[in-house]
Amino acid sequence: MSKFKSLKVVDNFYQNNLFFPMPTVAVTTLCDDGSTTIGSYSLVFPYYIAGKDYYAMILETRNSSNTAQNLLKNGKCALNFVKDDRKYFKELVRLGFPGKTPAEKMKDCNLELIKGEAEGERPLIVKDAYQVIECTWDDTLEDGYKSKQHIGKLEGVEPPYNNFNGITSKFGCHFILKIDKILMEEKYADGLINGLKSTSFPNVPVDYGYHDSKNFWYKKFKGFRPIAEPIASSNANSVESVMYCAERLNTKVKFTKEACETYVKIPRPFLKAALLQIVQIAEENGIEVIDKEASMKIAELRKNKK
Ligand SMILES: Cc1cc2nc3c(=O)[nH]c(=O)nc-3n(C[C@H](O)[C@H](O)[C@H](O)COP(=O)(O)O)c2cc1C
Repeated sequence: MSKFKSLKVVDNFYQNNLFFPMPTVAVTTLCDDGSTTIGSYSLVFPYYIAGKDYYAMILETRNSSNTAQNLLKNGKCALNFVKDDRKYFKELVRLGFPGKTPAEKMKDCNLELIKGEAEGERPLIVKDAYQVIECTWDDTLEDGYKSKQHIGKLEGVEPPYNNFNGITSKFGCHFILKIDKILMEEKYADGLINGLKSTSFPNVPVDYGYHDSKNFWYKKFKGFRPIAEPIASSNANSVESVMYCAERLNTKVKFTKEACETYVKIPRPFLKAALLQIVQIAEENGIEVIDKEASMKIAELRKNKK
């Protein structure tokens, strides 16, 4: 007999049918009077991660929420990832209770807000967030801007609906959010830039959503340290295999053995594409032979190109 039980899939299956680990995000948006309001969100996920003209997140909300209404109106938001602290989680559960106006919600808010760094008129950001993504809704995808005609319809929107951007159901909305800026608290940015240790990670709460009408469940992170699990393929390439791949690229640019040594950690499935990108940058910069020095210069240029 299977150890599993099959569950009927119902509305909000991510919390009613699953234990789905999610981030806890205070989404700040800009109100008509220029003030900032906060809505609590977990259905926030990377959407365009590479190979597009820009990077994007996706956010799923009720279309009648203050957050959705503000996004439909002015398109600006900041995704503030809160640290694991009971006082913040309690506050986010309070800010996550529907039906309150921004003024009512923000009157006694214990999250301090400061100015962000992206250009233009923007909502403020949460000072004690460990990371913040400042975003603009891409209302061109699927003609999302047409959903603006439903601004103010708080009792449910009638069809037709969009599939993935704008108003997507009677009560639902999806926003594809172009990433304008990523702001990271300095000590965590240092870890990302200079190399991670188990102490380089912020305390991140894991939330499981509403499993009943009484409680919102989450798991504390404090006291736990991330464990590094070595990736099997991280040292799989020999310098000979990199040279073999480089020699078969059919390009005028050549690689020295020392340069190839710097690429042994690129996972095998990505090696050819990575070397081709390196060659392209070399060509753009008049480099005919990629030696160790050139590979370091190209690494810098590549970082800026990403
Ligand atoms: C931690 C937390 C996460 C939540 N995540 C979501 C979510 O991803 N999508 C959603 O529509 N509502 C979510 N809610 C409920 C919203 O916060 C709620 O609809 C709230 O009224 C939104 O605030 P706003 O109207 O000011 O935008 C969440 C609530 C909490 C406490």
